[in-house]
Amino acid sequence: MPVAQRARVNGGNSNQFIIIVKGVNKGSGGMWGEYIINPSQIGIIAMKNTLAVSTPAKINIEVADSLQTVLADTYGLYLITHNYHWNVEGSRFVELHKLFDEQYNELFQAIDVVAERIRALNTYALPFEGDSIIRISKMTSNALNKETDADARADRMIHNLISLNGAVIASCQTAKEKCKDMQDDESENLMIERITAHQKAIWMLRSIIK
Ligand SMILES: [Fe+2]
Repeated sequence: MPVAQRARVNGGNSNQFIIIVKGVNKGSGGMWGEYIINPSQIGIIAMKNTLAVSTPAKINIEVADSLQTVLADTYGLYLITHNYHWNVEGSRFVELHKLFDEQYNELFQAIDVVAERIRALNTYALPFEGDSIIRISKMTSNALNKETDADARADRMIHNLISLNGAVIASCQTAKEKCKDMQDDESENLMIERITAHQKAIWMLRSIIK
């Protein structure tokens, strides 16, 4: 929302104010800047500004909180997928190295989109505040510690990623329901896109170990 500040003009007409309008798109009709106006004009300026700014989605702390969980869980999955991209070995090295590359890059893009949606809701993107990343990274066993055979390690990595993608889908579904309740269509659409992407990732991972 625009922020309007006003102060009486020093040395000028005592009935005039200087008004400073912030937060308005410069291209939206010349509302940006400082104006010397009479008190009767203040209401008109304020109304014009309200109309000039596109209204952000209703700020709702419950929607923002649910998106923060999705952001943190997606971050956790991204870190693990990138780690597997580096450390996978065995007879399927090339295909898995490439698949994990595609998946961690997709997740990295998604992190940015979800974080920017949180900012559009006028809250800060804080993926590291809670314990979501630690929680999601502890959900699966470390393939490098658990298996001595390279192909068995690769299998465990795939199973882990299937499980973790499923966990992120669960977070997205919780957020989707919250968005629906609060009639935040844009955030809901984003959650639908994220669920679709994770379902595709699971399909690709499952196809390898069938
Ligand atoms: Fe790489």
